[in-house]
Amino acid sequence: MKIKVSAPGKLMLLGEHAVVYGYPCLVTAVDKRLYVQAEIINNKEDEIIAPQVKESRFVLESIAQFKAKFGLEKSVRIITKGDFSHRVGLGSSSAVTVATFKALSLLFKLPLTLREIFDLSYKVNLSIQGVGSGFDLATATYGRTIFFVTGGKIIEPLKINPLPLVVGYSGIKADTPFYIRKVAEAFKRRKEDLNQIFNEITKLVYQAKKAILKSEFKLLGELMTKNHQWLKKLGVSVPKLDKMVMAALEGGAYGAKLSGAGGGDCMIALVDQKNRRKVESAIKKIGGEIIKTKTNAKGVKLEI
Ligand code: PMV
Repeated sequence: MKIKVSAPGKLMLLGEHAVVYGYPCLVTAVDKRLYVQAEIINNKEDEIIAPQVKESRFVLESIAQFKAKFGLEKSVRIITKGDFSHRVGLGSSSAVTVATFKALSLLFKLPLTLREIFDLSYKVNLSIQGVGSGFDLATATYGRTIFFVTGGKIIEPLKINPLPLVVGYSGIKADTPFYIRKVAEAFKRRKEDLNQIFNEITKLVYQAKKAILKSEFKLLGELMTKNHQWLKKLGVSVPKLDKMVMAALEGGAYGAKLSGAGGGDCMIALVDQKNRRKVESAIKKIGGEIIKTKTNAKGVKLEI
C-alpha cells in the first residue's frame, strides 16, 4: 500500500525574528505544496528519494522519531515531490517533515492529532537546526492563516478571506540560521534596543491581526511596510529586498515587506486587485521573480 500526503508552503506575514524571542507572528499557508509518498518495504534500511528538500535529514529524523514513538522496526520508502524547491524559501523542510509524520501515521494506521504532528515536527526541527520558532511547521500542519506564538504556545487559525498578495522572489537564497544567529549576537550586545524593536513589531502584529479579520487591506499594508522598517533596523534586510519593497510601493501597493529571515528569499506586497499587474511589473523591472500563489491553503492532507 502507498500513501500520498501533501503539506503547504508558507509565507511570513508579520512578526519574523520577534517570534523567535517569545513574541507572536502572523503567517499564511500557500497553495504551493510538498508531496510525500510512503510505503512499507522489506529492505533492512529505509529508502529516501527527496530531491525537493535541502536535506533528507528532515525525512530521516522524522522516520526515526515516528518509529521510536511507536516501537516500529519495519523499513519504509519515502518519495517526495514538490510544487516548489527549497531555493525560494517557502518552507520545504517544514512541509516535508509534517507530511512525513502524517503519511507514516496513515500508513501504519497509528493516528496522530494535528497537535501531535506539530509537536513531533518541532522536535525534529530543533534537533536538526537547533533554532526556530516552529511557525512554518504550524502552517504546514494546520494550513490557513495563523496567529502563532513561539513553539506553538498559541496556534490560532483565523477565519479570513484569501489575501491579495504579490510574492516576489529576490533570486538570493537566504540562510535562515545565519540570520537568526546574527540577531542573537546583536541581542547579546543590545538587549534593550532589540527588545524595544520586538515590542514595536508585536504592536504591529496585534493591529494586523485585527485588520486581517476585518479585511482592512489598506491598513494591513501600512502595518507591513512599518514592519519592514523595523526589520531593516534589525539588520536583516539587504538592498535587493529593499529595492523590491520600494518598487512595489511605488507601483501602488498598500504595503510591502521582506518575508522570513531576511538576506534574500521572498518579499510580499499587499495590493488592490486593480493594481496587481502594475506592482508585479515594478518588481520584475528591478529583477524580482513573481511567484504566483494563493494564501489560506489547506494544511497537511491525504492526497487521493
Ligand atoms: O526564513 P524563513 O522563511 O524560514 O523565516 C524565518 C523566520 C524567523 O522568525 C527568523 C525564524 C523562525 O523560526 O521564526
